[in-house]
Amino acid sequence: MAKLWAGRTAGDTDQIADDFNSSIRFDCRMFREDITGSMAHAAMLGAKGIIAQADAEAIIDGLQGILEDLESGALEFDLACEDIHMFVEQVLTERIGDVGKRLHTARSRNDQVALDLRLYLRRENAEIMSLTKDVLQALISQAEANKAAILPGYTHLQRAQPITFGHHLMAYAMMLLRDMDRMLDASMRMNVSPIGCCALAGTTYDTDRWMEAIALGFDAIAMNSLDGVSDRDFCLELLSAYAILMMHLSRLSEELILWSSWEFQFVSLSDAYTTGSSIMPQKKNPDMAELVRGKTGRVYGDLMALLTTLKGLPLAYNKDMQEDKEAVFDAVDTVKMCLQVFAPMIETMVTKPENMKKAAQTGFINATDLADYLVKKGLPFRSAYKISGQLVAKCIAEHTVLEELPLEAYKQFSELFEEDLYSEIDLAACVEKRISQGGTSVASVEAQIAYVKEALEA
Ligand code: ARG
Repeated sequence: MAKLWAGRTAGDTDQIADDFNSSIRFDCRMFREDITGSMAHAAMLGAKGIIAQADAEAIIDGLQGILEDLESGALEFDLACEDIHMFVEQVLTERIGDVGKRLHTARSRNDQVALDLRLYLRRENAEIMSLTKDVLQALISQAEANKAAILPGYTHLQRAQPITFGHHLMAYAMMLLRDMDRMLDASMRMNVSPIGCCALAGTTYDTDRWMEAIALGFDAIAMNSLDGVSDRDFCLELLSAYAILMMHLSRLSEELILWSSWEFQFVSLSDAYTTGSSIMPQKKNPDMAELVRGKTGRVYGDLMALLTTLKGLPLAYNKDMQEDKEAVFDAVDTVKMCLQVFAPMIETMVTKPENMKKAAQTGFINATDLADYLVKKGLPFRSAYKISGQLVAKCIAEHTVLEELPLEAYKQFSELFEEDLYSEIDLAACVEKRISQGGTSVASVEAQIAYVKEALEA
C-alpha cells in the first residue's frame, strides 16, 4: 500500500519492517483523543484563515462521522496503517476527498501523538482516581465498623502493642490519600497543550495555539516546541504515582493474605474474591490479593521501561518514543483492574474480632503499659522496662500472662505495684489511653476517619 509519506522514498518498505514499525495495534485505543484533537485543529485552521472555513467544516463533519462509526463498530481499524493518526487521516480523505488532505497543515504527528497521549491519560487518570476513591471508601467503612476491634500491632512481625483494626486500616487510607494527591498533582502538570509545536520547531503559519488549547480543556501551552514534542515527564510522573499506589495495595494484599490464613484468621475474604484448589478441598485461596501483589511488579516494570527508553534520547522526537504507549497502557489497565477488584474485596471482607482479641491476649503486648505504670509511680523508664521484662520472663516460664499474675508476685519485683495495675494493663484501657494525635484510641481513629472523609470531599 502507498504510504501517506511516500514522496521522498519510492520503494516499498519490507513487510516485516512495516509490522515492526507500526503502532496501530495499540495506539488505536486513543482514537477518540486523536479525532477530538484533529477537530480542534481544523477549527483553528479555519478560524485563522489558514484553510477555508468551508473546508474546516467539511473536515470536522468528516471526523465526527469517523468517530461515530468507530464507536458503533461500523468502521474497523485498518491494521495496515502505521498508526492511529495515519488511519484517521486516510479514512477522512477517502470519505471527503482532497479536502481531507488539508487537515495536516501546521502540525505533525509528533505534536499530535503528544497531544493524544495527554488527553488519553487525562481521562484515564480521572477514572483511576475515582476507583482509588472507591477503595478509600471501603477502607473507611471497614475502619468505622472495626474501630474498637483490638488486635496486636506488630513490628518485625512480632506482637508489639495493642491497636485497633480500624487504626490499622486507616494507615492504608492515609497512603491512598497521598496517592490521590500525587495523581492530582501530576495531572495538573500534564494539562499543558503540545499541539502547534509541530514537528519540532513550530511553524510558519499564523496559528493560534491558545485557541486549540482552550478548546481541548488545557490550562496552558508548552512554551518550547522542542520540549513540547519530546516531553514524556507526565507519563513518568503518573507511572511513578501508579507504582507507589500499587506498592500500597501490595502491602495491604500481603496483610490480607496473612490475616486470612488459618494461623491468623483475623478476616475472611468473600467467596467472590477467593478461589478453591483443584486438588485440596479445604482450601480457600486469596488469589485476588496475591495477583494484586504480583501485578505490582508489572507496573514497576512499566515505569522502569519508560525511564530507560527516554534516558538516552537526543531532542526532539525519536521513534523510540513510540514505546511509551505500551508501558503506559499496561500500567493503566493493570492499576484499573486491581482497584476494581480491591474495593469490593475490602467491602465484603468479614472481620473476626474474637480471633483478633485472642491473639492480642497472648504475646504480652501490654508489657509497655506495665512499664509505663511504674514510671507514673516515679520509677525511671529504664528501670521500669527491666522489671516489666523480668515479669514477662516469669510469665513465660510459668505459662501464664501478666493479667493472671497475683499482686504478691508483682510485689516481689517492686513495692510500687498496687491493685490498680490490672486496670492499667487491661487491653481496652491500653488502647483507650493512646489518645495522642494519630494514635490508636477510638476517639483518635474517629478523628482520622473524619480527616480522610473531609479530604475526599475537598
Ligand atoms: N506512532 C508514533 C508514536 O507513537 C507517532 C509519531 C510518529 N512520528 C514520526 N515522525 N514518525 O510515537
